[in-house]
Amino acid sequence: MEKIFLKTDLGKSLENYDFPGLKRTLNMTPQQVISKIKESGLRGRGGAGFPTGIKWETVYNIQDEEKFVICNADEGEPGTFKDRFLMENLSFKVLEGIIISAYATGSKYGYIYIRGEYVKSIKIMRNAIEKLYEKNILGKNILNSDFSFDLKLVRGAGAYVCGDETSLINSIEGERGKSRIKPPLPVFEGLFGKPTVVNNVETLAAAAEIMKYEDNIYSEMGTERSRGTKLISISGDVNKPGVYEVEFGELSVKEIINELAGGVKGSGLGFVIPGGISTEVLTEEEIDVPYTYENLQKIGSNVGSGGMIVVSKDRNYLEIAKNVSDFFRDETCGTCFPCREGNKNINKIVTDIYRRGYPTSKEIEIISDIKGAVSSAARCGFGESSLNLILSLFDKFYNKKVTV
Ligand SMILES: Cc1cc2nc3c(=O)[nH]c(=O)nc-3n(C[C@H](O)[C@H](O)[C@H](O)COP(=O)(O)O)c2cc1C
Ligand code: SF4
Repeated sequence: MEKIFLKTDLGKSLENYDFPGLKRTLNMTPQQVISKIKESGLRGRGGAGFPTGIKWETVYNIQDEEKFVICNADEGEPGTFKDRFLMENLSFKVLEGIIISAYATGSKYGYIYIRGEYVKSIKIMRNAIEKLYEKNILGKNILNSDFSFDLKLVRGAGAYVCGDETSLINSIEGERGKSRIKPPLPVFEGLFGKPTVVNNVETLAAAAEIMKYEDNIYSEMGTERSRGTKLISISGDVNKPGVYEVEFGELSVKEIINELAGGVKGSGLGFVIPGGISTEVLTEEEIDVPYTYENLQKIGSNVGSGGMIVVSKDRNYLEIAKNVSDFFRDETCGTCFPCREGNKNINKIVTDIYRRGYPTSKEIEIISDIKGAVSSAARCGFGESSLNLILSLFDKFYNKKVTV
C-alpha cells in the first residue's frame, strides 16, 4: 500500500532518476500529451478538482509567444502537508511534471511558488532546479530537443490567500497578495497578462507519473468521476499521522483512519475534517463511505486539499470552531467587504459561543445568514468556503441541543 502510483519512485535520488515521463513526452506532440492527460481523468489536486487536460488544452490553443506555467506550492490549507512531502521526497517528479506541462501548453517560462515557511522544501527544490540545469533537463534545447524552458523559484510571503491562483499571480508580479476579479481566468490572462496554467504540486507530479507509462494505467484506477490515486495528509488524534496514498474508492474514510492512520487516540472519534478547514465536518455515522469526490459531495463535504484532520471526543469542539474562525478573520485579504466584515463579525459571535459553552439557535441563524452574504459576494473561494466547517459543526453537534 505504501507505494501505489505517485510514490513508486520513493527512495530514489535525483541522480538515479532518468525522467521517463519527460522523455516519453518529448517524443510526442503537445496535442498527444494533452489527449493522454485528458484520457487519464486527472483532476486538479489543489482543491477545486478541475480537469487538468482541459486547462492545458485551453492554454495550448491560444496563440501567444509568451505563456507561463506556475506550480502552486503554497500549501496554506491547515492540516495539509502532502505537497511538502512531494517536494522533499520526490522533487524530481514535481519538476518533471512542471516541464511536461510547459511542453504541452507551449510555455517557455515557469515559476514554482513555495510557501515561505517551507524552508527545507525551498532548499531541496532550489538544489534540484540547479542540478536539472546542469543535466540539460531545464534550459535551452532540453535533452537535445527543440524545446527550451526556464524555471524560477519564488518564495511565498506567508498569506493563506496567496494560494488562490490569482493572488499568487499578483504576488509573483510583486503586487499585494489579493485575489483578482474573474473573468478573465488565468488561462486567458494570467501572469503579466499572458495565458497561464496554474497547477498544484500533486497534480503535476501525477501528470509526470501518467506520462511514464505507455498505457494509461491511471484511468483504470479509481472510479468514473474520481480517477487514479490521492495523497492524503492525516493529522490530529490518530496513532499514525502522515501522508498516505489511496486509490479513489478503494477505502472508506473510516478505513483510511483506522487501517492506515492506526485508529483514533483517546475516547473515540468526535468528527473528521476531510479536506482542510474549508470543508464540512463528518460525524462517525457518516464516514463509512468510499473516499471519492462524488461520495464526499453526496454527504455534503469535499475531498478538498486532502488534509484530513481527525478530532477525538476529548477535544473542546467550540475551541476548534474559534481557532478556525480566528484563522479566517486574520487571513481574509479584505478586498470584498462581506468577506472581511462577515468573518470579523462571525468571529465575535463564535468567541461568545466558546466562552459561554454553547450556541443559541439565533446565533446559528445569524451565522448562516452571514455565510450566504459572504459566499454570494466572494471574489474567490476563500469567502465561499470560510464558514463551511463552523456551520457544519454547529449543525451536526449543537443544533438539536440549543434551547434559547
Ligand atoms: C484561499 C485559497 C487558497 C488556496 N490555496 C491553494 C494552495 O495552497 N495550493 C493549491 O494548489 N491550490 C490552492 N488554491 C486553489 C488554486 O486557486 C487553484 O485552483 C489551484 O492551484 C489549481 O491547481 P489544480 O488545478 O492543479 O488543482 C487555493 C484557492 C483559494 C481560494
Ligand atoms: S473572498 Fe475574501 S479572500 Fe477572497 S478576494 Fe474577497 S475578501 Fe479576499
